[in-house]
Amino acid sequence: MKKRILVTGGTGFIGSHTTVELQQAGYDVVIVDNLSNSNADVVDGIEAITGIRPIFEKVDCTDMPALRGVFEKYEGIQGIIHFAASKAVGESVQKPLDYYFNNTVSTINLLRLMPEFGVKGFIFSSSCTVYGQPDPENLPVTENAPRKKAESPYGNTKKIDEDIITDFCNSGAPVNAILLRYFNPIGAHPSALIGELPNGVPNNLIPYITQTAMGIRECLSVFGNDYDTPDGSCIRDFIYVVDLAKAHVAAMERILEGKNEERVEVFNVGTGKGVSVLELINTFEKCTGVKLNYKITGRRMGDIEKVWGNVDKANNVLGWRAVHSLEDSLSSAWKWQQRLRERGVM
Ligand code: WQD
Repeated sequence: MKKRILVTGGTGFIGSHTTVELQQAGYDVVIVDNLSNSNADVVDGIEAITGIRPIFEKVDCTDMPALRGVFEKYEGIQGIIHFAASKAVGESVQKPLDYYFNNTVSTINLLRLMPEFGVKGFIFSSSCTVYGQPDPENLPVTENAPRKKAESPYGNTKKIDEDIITDFCNSGAPVNAILLRYFNPIGAHPSALIGELPNGVPNNLIPYITQTAMGIRECLSVFGNDYDTPDGSCIRDFIYVVDLAKAHVAAMERILEGKNEERVEVFNVGTGKGVSVLELINTFEKCTGVKLNYKITGRRMGDIEKVWGNVDKANNVLGWRAVHSLEDSLSSAWKWQQRLRERGVM
């Protein structure tokens, strides 16, 4: 019997790639998603890649009766990977209550249902945003670095959710959890059948770059070149989404096989390498052959100057590492953007 996993937010960017990797590793996947920031036809893309159609239920995780219904309908769920969350930093400043409500109530509802339905493992989508700007001596940042005051309500929900999960697991509830702190996920599946599809004007760098390269946006703004970094632009740890997806499979296996050493474990998921925004633009131009129209503008409020991860723990303990190059990731993002154009999506 295949082990059954519930993936919340499974039609989203990281959720869809993780569903593919779970299916290819032999898991049976049930997706729940409220489609607030994704489309049901992502399920077709997943099926086209793996040959297996995941179960899909349009359910909002804040709706407890509907969520309970999913556990009743699909018996034997052994683990949950919880992606479903609102994630726009700027919007979270405008609508803090929506963010606090959605992101914490979803998590609480899932945790509440776990003992009742005998679900043992919980993997949570956390973020390097919990580190804020690490002190210089803490770069690359390890899991033990202090969590800083969040820069936005969105970031704060990640911290609060981490605490909720930790307190629940430590209360003696029959639940184990792994918190995965992602750095900057980028790229698309090599098939270009699934990828990132932001609503409206993208906030994140890579979709803005590929849309500018496609002529959808006129010019990319590089937010600042006066930071204390070698070329003055911000530094991030850009991780290929397929590598990131595989980290979830490794984490789920670890919990379901009872190999975790603590009730709650935390892993950074990144490449361990910092790349500046300007370096990334150069690499994009080199590997796609497309010249990018960009200009340097002022800093974006709330941006972190530089952050990249120490990923030794994930490498050594989880037995996972990022294997794809930045060139692979950026080429895949460009291929996906071109495919969207062919399909007439944008
Ligand atoms: C990366 C770099 C920008 C757009 C955010 C969230 C984080 C996470 C991922 C999500 C920065 C620069 C960007 C542009 C630019 N969570 N940039 N021009 O800010 O590192 O992380 O998204 O769901 O929690 O905070 O990612 O892609 O927005 O920016 O120059 O048009 O690119 O200033 O240095 P960020 P990003």
